[in-house]
Amino acid sequence: MNHPYPASEIEAGAAKRLNVPDYVKHQGLIDWVASIAALTKPDRVVWADGSQEENDRLCAEMVAAGTLRKLNPDKRPGSYLAWSDPGDVARVEDRTFICSRTREEAGPTNNWTDPDEMRGTLNGLFDGCMRGRTMYVVPFSMGPLGSHIAHVGVELSDSPYVVVNMRIMTRMGRAVYDVLGESGHFVPCVHSVGKPLAPGEKDVAWPCNSTKYIVHYPETREIWSYGSGYGGNALLGKKCFALRIASNMGRQDALSGGIGWLAEHMLILAVTSPEGRKYHVAAAFPSACGKTNFAMLIPPKGFEGWTVRTIGDDIAWIKPHSDGRLYAINPEAGFFGVAPGTSAKTNPNCLASLDRNVIYTNVALTDDGDVWWEGLSEPPAHLLDWQGKDWTPELARANPVNGKPKPAAHPNARFTVAAAQCPSIDPNWDSVDGVPIDAFIFGGRRSTTVPLVTEARSWEEGVYMAATMGSETTAAQAGATGVVRRDPFAMLPFCGYNMAEYFGHWLDLGHRLQVGGAKLPGIFCVNWFRTDENGKFVWPGFGDNMRVLAWMLGRLEGKAQGVEHVFGTSPRYEDLNWNGLDFPRASFERITSIDKEAWSREFQLHAELFQQLSHGLPPALSRVKASFEKRLAA
Ligand code: OXD
Ligand code: MN
Repeated sequence: MNHPYPASEIEAGAAKRLNVPDYVKHQGLIDWVASIAALTKPDRVVWADGSQEENDRLCAEMVAAGTLRKLNPDKRPGSYLAWSDPGDVARVEDRTFICSRTREEAGPTNNWTDPDEMRGTLNGLFDGCMRGRTMYVVPFSMGPLGSHIAHVGVELSDSPYVVVNMRIMTRMGRAVYDVLGESGHFVPCVHSVGKPLAPGEKDVAWPCNSTKYIVHYPETREIWSYGSGYGGNALLGKKCFALRIASNMGRQDALSGGIGWLAEHMLILAVTSPEGRKYHVAAAFPSACGKTNFAMLIPPKGFEGWTVRTIGDDIAWIKPHSDGRLYAINPEAGFFGVAPGTSAKTNPNCLASLDRNVIYTNVALTDDGDVWWEGLSEPPAHLLDWQGKDWTPELARANPVNGKPKPAAHPNARFTVAAAQCPSIDPNWDSVDGVPIDAFIFGGRRSTTVPLVTEARSWEEGVYMAATMGSETTAAQAGATGVVRRDPFAMLPFCGYNMAEYFGHWLDLGHRLQVGGAKLPGIFCVNWFRTDENGKFVWPGFGDNMRVLAWMLGRLEGKAQGVEHVFGTSPRYEDLNWNGLDFPRASFERITSIDKEAWSREFQLHAELFQQLSHGLPPALSRVKASFEKRLAA
């Protein structure tokens, strides 16, 4: 591991003030903590053990500081609400950097700065940035403790909000040191809200800094995050480690002679047919496009006998197994989901998970100490909105935002909750071996052009469809919403290396497995989001997505029929099971039709993407494009 601060620079006596617990035996880790403490100069260092007592103490301290509010224990036992700074509400993609040795290694879709230059900048920012604060040492495992698929990280953070969230989102605490032993590898993660306190200065409820840096050094597998306390910017096990650093690790494994593995922005679910056949599906959708809802789907009326169980809702680590199949784990232990839109209608399993032991961020507060967000129920007569201001339906209508009543919850408001609380959690969700994947699904949010579902004819064509996926942006990222951008594999903000090489990694992995005689998972592309002339979604979505899922499984079993077209095979109206739903044939036409002109324009956008990624773009993708275009013209 790289030590940016040699021991000689560590303040004399600092090590003594580190309060290292006697169960921590890893000298490399202790030296690193000392070096970061010497740089950031916190008032004290606390080693988080992950216990309930510690959690309760930190929550009580945050309630006293105004960071958290305790919710009404009769309504939401063990639950808290945080309201963030209004400027710290989402991931900051334009402040996120992949600092590989060369710009080419990061690729044109990532921000890049020379690593030495970035270290210089960050050394300046981190120098003394924890003054007046506590630095917490947070050990965590991504994946079940001790699983051969899991990896360990340690986050040093001056935010107690990070500590309590990491305790839910990862396997966090003392047991991680047993896995690490005296010399085990860990990913070092340094996080600061970037707001030192002068002696006697009163803290604010949500400290942060308008200067933000979310920085990854792939060569040394380090993460440095400055200035934000929010979600994916601050809970460094999630996007930073489990996607950006882990995608590098999976590819590095292939480059150094292994078969390689995948770190993907995917939910994982298990679905069992009435005949008792169990399949596992991993599905990639961009942020805030319904991954959590799909992962917790309840089969609709007419699908009695089918069950869907949840394994993960956001991230999958997928590794080849000795039987030649791909096995996936959910590296997380909790859900950090988007609250608005979650209701008893859209996601009853999720709502049931949220009745206790939840940290809510940026939702509204009801007068009786409960939470509320848009889409949960009829709006109450009075609320405090996510900025603590009075909110009534009348005030909201009088102060519209983008033509809609002013929301009481921020559109990217979140809940943090343990996966184990979910009623639909699969009994194998934390199996150390993971679950075998039968199908991959890729889906974007497209109001036009892309049909409801298409099965790829081959691994190569499936990789092409995933690589060229477009989606309309949402509130999960800072910036304008509703703009179509290419979001290959739903990984645009999360791929930790050159996206063209990432496509190559997918192609090569498939090829290696096929050569070994393996049957690869099927690849399907979906779009739940086509709209009518009034901008309303045509497809009912949610539980009815089961109809599409069942068709996919029928295809895997060689039973379901479909019709072949330019990109692959899609169901005809009569190929889907419509039991329990009156969905007119004309509406089905609307969401499955392929408009030649729209697709010619779409191919133009694919060409622009390929132009942007031309350095290292696998020739197979250009071949697939040419063959699709030929079919379209025919
Ligand atoms: C998330 C995201 O938080 O994708 O999962 O933004
Ligand atoms: Mn996500």
